[in-house]
Amino acid sequence: MGSARFSLVLLVSYVLLVATNTGAAGLYPTFYSQTCPSVATVVKQEVAKILGKDRNLAGAFVRLQFHDCWVNGCDGSVLLASTAGNSAEVDANTNFRIRGQSQINKIKAAVEAKCPQTVSCADIIALAAREAVVQTGGKTWSVPLGRRDSRVSVARDADANLPFPVLSFDGLVQNFAKKGFNAREMVVLSGSHTIGRTHCNGVAPNLYNFTGKDSLTDTNPNLDVSFANGLKKRCPKGNRVNLVAMDKTKNKFDQGYYKQVLAHKGVFITDDALITTAAGLSAVQEFAKPGSSFFTEFAAAMQKMSKLSPLTGTDGEIRKKCQFVN
Ligand code: HEM
Ligand SMILES: *[C@@H]1O[C@H](CO)[C@@H](O)[C@H](O)[C@H]1NC(C)=O
Repeated sequence: MGSARFSLVLLVSYVLLVATNTGAAGLYPTFYSQTCPSVATVVKQEVAKILGKDRNLAGAFVRLQFHDCWVNGCDGSVLLASTAGNSAEVDANTNFRIRGQSQINKIKAAVEAKCPQTVSCADIIALAAREAVVQTGGKTWSVPLGRRDSRVSVARDADANLPFPVLSFDGLVQNFAKKGFNAREMVVLSGSHTIGRTHCNGVAPNLYNFTGKDSLTDTNPNLDVSFANGLKKRCPKGNRVNLVAMDKTKNKFDQGYYKQVLAHKGVFITDDALITTAAGLSAVQEFAKPGSSFFTEFAAAMQKMSKLSPLTGTDGEIRKKCQFVN
């Protein structure tokens, strides 16, 4: 083969490789290398400051990526505030007391100070979620960048796409399949419940409304009895706002969540649902084992999630403030 032709073959394979690695059209890790080369470092430092004050906020950042990307793609729509005429995603049932928005605003302000009107809020969410995982003990992934921010956010879109914490294993599989994720990826991503906290709102159906009877004794029968009793003390019937740790090591991104689920100590119906099928149970057992591939599979699934139908090119905008359209 002549060397010119050989170089052409190399070039073509390189282009194909780059194209397949970036996945979603227009997103790539070096998107800001000319316009805001320090963005990843700024986000990393700001997240470190925030977690330095309250490590439990890591959960907020990871959840924000999920709730942003699952609803019309990763477009920053979860951050927009409701207006007089519009109830935004943030006020959906599935976003009950979602947090982290003010911290994202702080990060955004630090990024704006370096690179005015350059980096989208959607990209900041994706970078902050990665930092939150890494800084609490998870594995890193490269974050493809170049998302732009939407001008639209509708509460009912969130409730039509995000899973309620009452789904069965099959319900969860269906919800994730709609976004192109298989059952194993669903189990892997559920592992994010190793950090953060919940309000009693999400726990109550597991304690008082498992079969829809809505009574003090309608408790998920799979739950460890003393665990359920402890949860009931923390979350008396009718209370929606008390806080419960997602797992025993709520500030550490570890495999504790899977161990807890195996011990029948899942806080949500949907956590316990993971061990109600043979496939789910074997995946949970696998991810609970020392040295399992949970951390690498989690990183890969988060990267994949971050590529869900973003706005790119000239679509959408680069918001100046994450809560408001320009
Ligand atoms: C499998 C279906 C899922 C259901 C039903 C579900 C449901 C919930 C609920 C009800 C809460 C409590 C919110 C609150 O009261 O403050 C929560 C918290 C959380 N979720 Fe999920 N979730 C699911 C999957 C995921 C996924 C895929 C991720 C990310 C990869 C995620 C990340 C988190 C995190 C980190 C928290 C803690 C938030 C905080 O500390 O503020 N969840 N989830
Ligand atoms: C209890 O569950 C039923 C059926 O799933 C549902 O219709 C009802 O709204 C629930 N009640 C409460 C208080 O959540």
